[in-house]
Amino acid sequence: MSTILSSNVYLNDLETYGYTITPDALNNELINDLITDCHRTALYFSAAKIGRLNDLQIDQTIRKDKTFWLDGSSQAQLTYQAIMESIKTTLNRQFFTGLFDYECHYAKYTQGDFYKKHLDAFKGRSNRVFTTVLYLNSPKRGGELVIYKPKSKQIEVVIKPVAGTLVMFESERFAHEVLPAIDERFSIAGWFRKNTSISGVIDPPR
Ligand code: OGA
Ligand code: MN
Repeated sequence: MSTILSSNVYLNDLETYGYTITPDALNNELINDLITDCHRTALYFSAAKIGRLNDLQIDQTIRKDKTFWLDGSSQAQLTYQAIMESIKTTLNRQFFTGLFDYECHYAKYTQGDFYKKHLDAFKGRSNRVFTTVLYLNSPKRGGELVIYKPKSKQIEVVIKPVAGTLVMFESERFAHEVLPAIDERFSIAGWFRKNTSISGVIDPPR
C-alpha cells in the first residue's frame, strides 16, 4: 500500500503568491491506486453541479465534467484523505486559518468537456479557503488549467495536467478555468474549509 508524501508541498509559495504548484507531490503508487479507484467508481460519476446549498444545479454551459465525491470507500481514498488532513494541520499552523474540513471529488473530463472561468468561493458567502487540484493522469492534449490574476482578465499561469502534480490556491482570490479536454483527464478537486456560518446555518459538506 502506498506510503505518505514523497516530497513536500510548496506551502511557502502559497503564502507568497497565493498559489503553489508541486510536481510529484504524491508517490506514483498512490496515484495509480487512485486512478484504479476512479475506474472502480466509474458507474457512480455524475454530471457536476454548480452553486451551493439549496442552489445546486447542473449547467452544462458552464461545466461538463463528471464527478464523484470521495466517501472513504477504498484504501486509496483513505490514504489521500489522510495526507490532506496532515496538510490541513500544517496549513493551520502556518497560516492560523482554522481550517476544519477537507471535501473533495474525483473529476473526469472527456473530449470536449470544460469548466468555464469561475471562482470556487465568493467573499463572505463560502467557507472554502484553499482549493486543491491533484492530477491523476497526464493527458497529452487539452484540459489545461488557466489561473487568472486576482480581479483581472490577465492570465497568471497555464498548467498542463501531469499525474502527481498538486496545485493549490486561495479560493476567493483566483478565478480559473479548465480548457476543453481532448484526451481523457482525471483529477481530484478539493477544498479546505473553515467553519463560518452563513445566515446562521453551518455550511454543510458539498
Ligand atoms: C474545479 C476546478 C480545476 C482542474 O473543480 O472547481 O476548477 O484543473 N478544477 O480540474
Ligand atoms: Mn474551480
